[in-house]
Amino acid sequence: MSIIELLAPARVMPILIVRNPDEGVRVAQALYDGGIRVVEITLRTPAAVDAILAIRQAVPALTVGAGTVVTPGQVEAVVAAGAHFGVSPGFSEGLLRAVLASPLPFLPGVMTPSDIICALEFGFSVMKLFPATQAGGIPMLRALAGPFPELRFCPTGGIDARTAPDYLRMPNVICVGGSWLAPEALVAKGDWEAIRSLAAAASALDTNSGSTAH
Ligand code: 3PG
Repeated sequence: MSIIELLAPARVMPILIVRNPDEGVRVAQALYDGGIRVVEITLRTPAAVDAILAIRQAVPALTVGAGTVVTPGQVEAVVAAGAHFGVSPGFSEGLLRAVLASPLPFLPGVMTPSDIICALEFGFSVMKLFPATQAGGIPMLRALAGPFPELRFCPTGGIDARTAPDYLRMPNVICVGGSWLAPEALVAKGDWEAIRSLAAAASALDTNSGSTAH
């Protein structure tokens, strides 16, 4: 499946940092129960690859991406773990060559027009804008639509339930990512019900409301 098809059910994509596979499964199940259909498990902990494998088995209807993929070796590892797609906060030529030699659909991270031109040269037309808020948020996305009208973005970084509707109203945004759906404090407490509620609220986000402060 293409990255566009994989992300189609995801208006909001939770970005997770998992401490162990079991906890990852509990969080993923709570998010799924709240209506979330696509998650990103970041490779920021030693447990991440095992967690991807465990979540794929335990919550088979969930689309599971691997995030913070920054080396060619990680591309191989997440393909072996069964990740449906990969995400990176940026990219290098070596990383994209490894991605293109693999079956992994991929969202390279960009923050500047030059990044975008490089990623386009490798054939990517859907990109993660990171860190989106710090890079200029909605005005940045509006400005990028001028020279790059065909591009679609998944902005992440500094987005929350309040600002997500503004991003989702942008014609060049296919989904937003963020860590607000599984806050560390709730995960540490094992408050799966609270995470389910956050997921339900995110799944029901009304893009006609929310902040217009951008
Ligand atoms: C990412 O990887 O995109 C960010 O860690 C998510 O940013 P946030 O924690 O500000 O939502």
